[in-house]
Amino acid sequence: MRFGHFDDSAREYVITTPRTPFPWINYLGSEGFFGLISHMGSGYSFYRDARLRRLTRYRYNSVPNEQGGRFFYIQENGDYWTPSYAPVKAELDAFECRHGLGYTRITGQRKGLEAELLFMVPRGFNAEVHQVTLRNKSNTTRTFKLFSFVEFCLWNAHDDATNLQRNLSTGEVEVEGSTIYHKTEYRERRNHFAFYHVNAPVAGFDTDRESFVGLYNHLGEPDVVKNGASKNSVAHGWAPVASHCLEVTLAPGAERKFVFTLGYIENPVAEKWQKPGVINKRRAQAMIEAFSKPEQVDAALQGLRSHWTELLSRYTVQSSDEKLNRMVNIWNPYQCVVTFHMSRSASYFETGIGRGMGFRDSNQDLLGFVHLLPDLARQRIIDIASTQFADGSAYHQYQPLTKRGNNDIGSGFNDDPMWLILGVAAYIKETGDYGILDESVPFDNDEKNTASLMEHLTRSFEHVLNNLGPHGLPLIGRADWNDCLNLNCFSETPDESYQTTGNRTGRTAESVFIAGMFCHIGPEYAALCDKKGQADKAQRARREIAKMEKVVLEHGWDGDWFLRAYDFFGNKVGSKECEDGKIFIEPQGYCVMAGIGKDSGQALKALDAVKERLDTPYGIVLVNPAYTRYHVELGEISSYPPGYKENAGIFCHNNPWIMIAETVVRRPERAFEYYKKITPAYIEDISEVHKMEPYVYSQMIAGKDAVKPGEAKNSWLTGTAAWNFVAVSQHLLGVRPDYDGLIVDPCLPAEVPQFTISRWWRGTTYVIQVKNSGKGGQPKLVVDGKPVTGNRVPYSAKGGTVHVECTV
Ligand code: GLC
Ligand code: GLC
Repeated sequence: MRFGHFDDSAREYVITTPRTPFPWINYLGSEGFFGLISHMGSGYSFYRDARLRRLTRYRYNSVPNEQGGRFFYIQENGDYWTPSYAPVKAELDAFECRHGLGYTRITGQRKGLEAELLFMVPRGFNAEVHQVTLRNKSNTTRTFKLFSFVEFCLWNAHDDATNLQRNLSTGEVEVEGSTIYHKTEYRERRNHFAFYHVNAPVAGFDTDRESFVGLYNHLGEPDVVKNGASKNSVAHGWAPVASHCLEVTLAPGAERKFVFTLGYIENPVAEKWQKPGVINKRRAQAMIEAFSKPEQVDAALQGLRSHWTELLSRYTVQSSDEKLNRMVNIWNPYQCVVTFHMSRSASYFETGIGRGMGFRDSNQDLLGFVHLLPDLARQRIIDIASTQFADGSAYHQYQPLTKRGNNDIGSGFNDDPMWLILGVAAYIKETGDYGILDESVPFDNDEKNTASLMEHLTRSFEHVLNNLGPHGLPLIGRADWNDCLNLNCFSETPDESYQTTGNRTGRTAESVFIAGMFCHIGPEYAALCDKKGQADKAQRARREIAKMEKVVLEHGWDGDWFLRAYDFFGNKVGSKECEDGKIFIEPQGYCVMAGIGKDSGQALKALDAVKERLDTPYGIVLVNPAYTRYHVELGEISSYPPGYKENAGIFCHNNPWIMIAETVVRRPERAFEYYKKITPAYIEDISEVHKMEPYVYSQMIAGKDAVKPGEAKNSWLTGTAAWNFVAVSQHLLGVRPDYDGLIVDPCLPAEVPQFTISRWWRGTTYVIQVKNSGKGGQPKLVVDGKPVTGNRVPYSAKGGTVHVECTV
């Protein structure tokens, strides 16, 4: 069942009923100011950091779950409603929500009045613009009131939700004309404030929540709206809000637009006050003027559209499969960019007050946006590498505002160092910017202890070799990619974190997955050594990789698939000898991607085992059989009920590893089948099962052992976005940059018989026309009329367009 449809020409998803199975959200903002917005207008806004600079309030775990947002109420002769359906939930005669790239448009109609709400963050502005268009579609003149509403968060979202003894006394506002200023804590150490403005004279306002809502009332039936009159309340403590009241009269067929601006302003300390106690509003005034007319809003929307048109033109495909086209051309890269901005901080599953930027996550996210925003990727790499320790290990996360590593989730995740190599390699392949390797980068943000980025990569590589276990496999440390496989933790106390507690230092628990990473990512390190003229280092690296490959085949092979790990006691994890958890997805993907056992048969066997034991109608589960009881020696993985999250959920992040692995053994049907199982556009028809937005990937879909298989959670902020983009664009469609050329190596089944890819790469556009037999054979390339051998289009410095014909 669907709840809407794609509109590809507008690059929008159109939701046609408010009753989606979960709030389906979108993101506003692409620089400093961001908002989350659901199809009913709920969500919140923040400047840069969702925890420390939260502008508007959102309540977690509340019922109904849409508590907080930007709401517009219409009141006409006692009848009141909200065009976004919630929070009033009066029946609408028509409802539509269009989520576009960086903006959302919600339209509701009732009794002949239509209200269209456009929400966006204009480029170059630290503000959300809300444009309300009112239309009289009836044949009588209508006079009614429009009320706006936002509730302010007292900036630090964590304190805001917990430190009530202080908060309920600190709230402060100022009202001047049609602008409501929120200035809590501005009197002391903050030099920032927020405002909510409308570009028309108001009939009244409210800034105190209880006055607006009424004692013991809720946002669905606020007193002020019910009575049709503002109370002009001024908040002192309690809960500051901003609500305007506008009186509107519309003749039949008439239309009127109002522009609301929710802005964020920082003043230099010396310019904080206009006079004692009164904020200096000069900067706010400038922002207000920039959006005082609908034409300015139109221009900003155009600006946003062209920004995305330019970004998305860098990789496009035209094929007969419209779902493939829409994911590759629009929604997958869009999600990659959002994930780049948000990391794992703010979604409807991440509260924005918890996690910082992950070392491993950020490196992988980079794979999905590096071709769109290479300069930001460069900065991101330097930021991440600056939190690395001198021994090559890393804090598991760092804070976006301070860019410093923190120990909230600890360190010692032994896969972390290798991801840095992968991220840097992807950046250099995209840009050819080897100069980044010479950048001087601190260890642990200590400017007195720095080394070249290349040296950081060496430390990453060596970190694996310096931490080998009894079988010669890499030690797992606290965990590897699978945060929940905690082989040294042994936690028996509730409330302890699996990621930071205990951690025995027996140096016994080993990870076959990290070994696979070492063999897959290690060659990139060797290639970069060569490029830097360090042939000895490159050779040594290749020797070590070859050695590791042997170790994997000897100690990491279980007979029919790759083992997952050895636990603290040296027992196998992910083996047919195990009671539960006999086979894991991660090592099958990463070892085959590395080519381990490709010529000797293990690779095919491992992938066949995946098909037989892990594949389901909804995707590939992480492990099978699911753990049915808690295993103290395995940690958090066995804490989840069977079928959910790491315990045999379909973790969409590593499904693409299997897709890529299938292309390594040249089985296009399987690769594409796995792709279609989890890719949102292909499962739009089962939205009632899937529950999450049909335009973006979710982190997890419940697996076959779950009570509701196929039900997804954790949409939006997941490495799934980047990895699926890598799988589909670089391995299925097969166009990927290498150090000195663009590889064209499609591996798709016959159901996609021909397609054209346009790939902008280092200043040149490569237009690649593919004729595909679907048998997974080797490609034959003709570049600008001349046949070339192999699958690589040589780098062309000429700019303009290069034409490539490819026959598979
Ligand atoms: C989450 C984490 C990621 C981890 C994965 C598997 O997505 O953000 O770092 O690799 O879970 O545990
Ligand atoms: C990852 C996992 C999650 C786990 C968390 C711990 O995000 O997906 O299941 O709880 O790591 O930090």
